[in-house]
Amino acid sequence: MKDYLGYAGKVCVVTGASSGMGRALADMLIDCGAEVWTASRGEADISGQAGWVRLDQVSRGSIDEAFTSLPERIDCFFGVAGVSGVKNDYIDTFTIDFVANKYLLDTYLAKRVVPGGSITFVTSTAGVRWAKEELIDEYRDIVEADGWDATIEAIHELDMDDAGGNMAYMLAKRAMNFLVASKAAEFAERDVRINAVLPCSTGSRFMTEFYEVMPSAKKQFEQSVGNGKPIADPSVMGKACLYLGSELAEYVSGHCLVVDWGLEAATLSGQVMDMLGMELT
Ligand SMILES: NC(=O)c1ccc[n+]([C@@H]2O[C@H](COP(=O)([O-])OP(=O)(O)OC[C@H]3O[C@@H](n4cnc5c(N)ncnc54)[C@H](OP(=O)(O)O)[C@@H]3O)[C@@H](O)[C@H]2O)c1
Repeated sequence: MKDYLGYAGKVCVVTGASSGMGRALADMLIDCGAEVWTASRGEADISGQAGWVRLDQVSRGSIDEAFTSLPERIDCFFGVAGVSGVKNDYIDTFTIDFVANKYLLDTYLAKRVVPGGSITFVTSTAGVRWAKEELIDEYRDIVEADGWDATIEAIHELDMDDAGGNMAYMLAKRAMNFLVASKAAEFAERDVRINAVLPCSTGSRFMTEFYEVMPSAKKQFEQSVGNGKPIADPSVMGKACLYLGSELAEYVSGHCLVVDWGLEAATLSGQVMDMLGMELT
């Protein structure tokens, strides 16, 4: 049988693999014959993995420490780790969901992901329509800031530090989508692809934490993510990552893959009401 995905023997690193989508993805990569390294705060006890390293994306030092133990040569990197903002404040949420990913991309992945390799981040459908000019104006300085300290400084300059983790979540995920798109050309020069998966509501610990704070939202989120489909299983998003990081997605780079069973398409084409309450074009 031909291996169309092409993961056999490849060195893959997955952040956020201790639960949810990252866990599902790591299991699938191992099934595909990859050498899988995982990184998260809690130990990811995954049968068949090559190794686990401790990583707390709120701290630059923890990222530097994690990369001393991760492989020097990486074929496929998956940045899945993230928080919803319900349990973290604005700055910590922005740091975990954006600053850390930007830092590890510029500092480590730019050197370690080999030609022919791929980088895939998990962002969110909360970050769709990130390319609207007035939205990019909000976070351009953050995305273009040089280094960890300058990025944090640019976030402070938005003057929203008291806005709450939920607000940071949306901005951070939009900024990640912009970052992915704006890095495609730079990584193409090194023959490396970079993409994002934008998940709809997915039944993981992430949603359990969300329901604890907003129990009234449970029914709405569990009933439908788009066009009548119920909330997704984490493996759905693991599969989307598996595709984007694989040889099947050759020539796909700078792409934000919305995985929502057509909700965004139905919204843009006027079939359903816009949940984000913004102009569609
Ligand atoms: N579930 C949804 O409805 C949904 C929708 C859109 C987007 N997303 C995104 O999908 C991604 C995966 O989430 P999930 O749904 O699979 O939720 P999950 O089960 O809560 O997984 C989140 C992962 O991120 C890790 N993580 C959290 N804080 C971290 C930190 N400070 N440093 C390093 N790792 C950290 C967690 O590991 P430890 O706690 O062990 O560190 C865990 O492995 C996240 O980026 C999330 O924003 C989720």
